[in-house]
Amino acid sequence: MLSKMSDTQNFRPVSYSRTTLTELMIPSYANFGGKIHGGILLSLMDKVAYACAAKHAGNYCVTVSVEGVNFLQPVEVGELVSLKASVNYVGNTSLMVGIRVIAENVKTGNVKHTNTSYFTMVAKDDEDKSAQVPGLILETREDGRRFLEAIRRRELSRRYQTELDNTKTIIQVEKELHLLEAQRCQITF
Ligand SMILES: CC(C)(COP(=O)(O)OP(=O)(O)OC[C@H]1O[C@@H](n2cnc3c(N)ncnc32)[C@H](O)[C@@H]1OP(=O)(O)O)[C@@H](O)C(=O)NCCC(=O)NCCS
Repeated sequence: MLSKMSDTQNFRPVSYSRTTLTELMIPSYANFGGKIHGGILLSLMDKVAYACAAKHAGNYCVTVSVEGVNFLQPVEVGELVSLKASVNYVGNTSLMVGIRVIAENVKTGNVKHTNTSYFTMVAKDDEDKSAQVPGLILETREDGRRFLEAIRRRELSRRYQTELDNTKTIIQVEKELHLLEAQRCQITF
């Protein structure tokens, strides 16, 4: 069932742009402790988000915001990292790509889930102006669940951002210095 938008020509199914990127974790990706740098994983996530978003949009896309980057487990050299991306939500010019990252030990077959993150991207036309993206055809109940989750995620993110902005402006350092007494800091001003 399509939404009330009548332009049925300009809709694409979630499956059209679903993308998986798999990469072997090589020694140059590791930090001094032998674990893979978070920045390497972020870069791979950005790459797969771009591929998925651009395929759906039929246009170049830029990354606007990233949510849910919590690395739950370390990734080791020699593991195969797979990033599974799909468009979870579309607005007018923006879309949200959900990315599930797993790391597999090829010797033991052990697979661990390292993180699931959400990239909001905006499509750009040839003049670098924001461009409308095609609507999304939700083919499965899971597609529908993800779209609904994305609506809530966007709303929560907006409220959180507003709260955060307000918090920055209402902090009165002199009045709140006592709150630092229980913290692990030394005040030298
Ligand atoms: C993304 C960008 C085009 C938005 O520009 P803007 O003037 O705020 O445009 P708009 O207000 O029309 O917003 C465009 C869309 O982005 C969405 N958007 C803007 N800021 C957002 C944010 N912080 N989080 C989520 N979505 C956001 C809007 O909701 C809107 O979506 P919609 O068209 O689906 O309703 C602009 O901020 C930009 O070019 N940023 C740099 C992006 C970039 O270079 N990324 C690479 C990282 S270096």
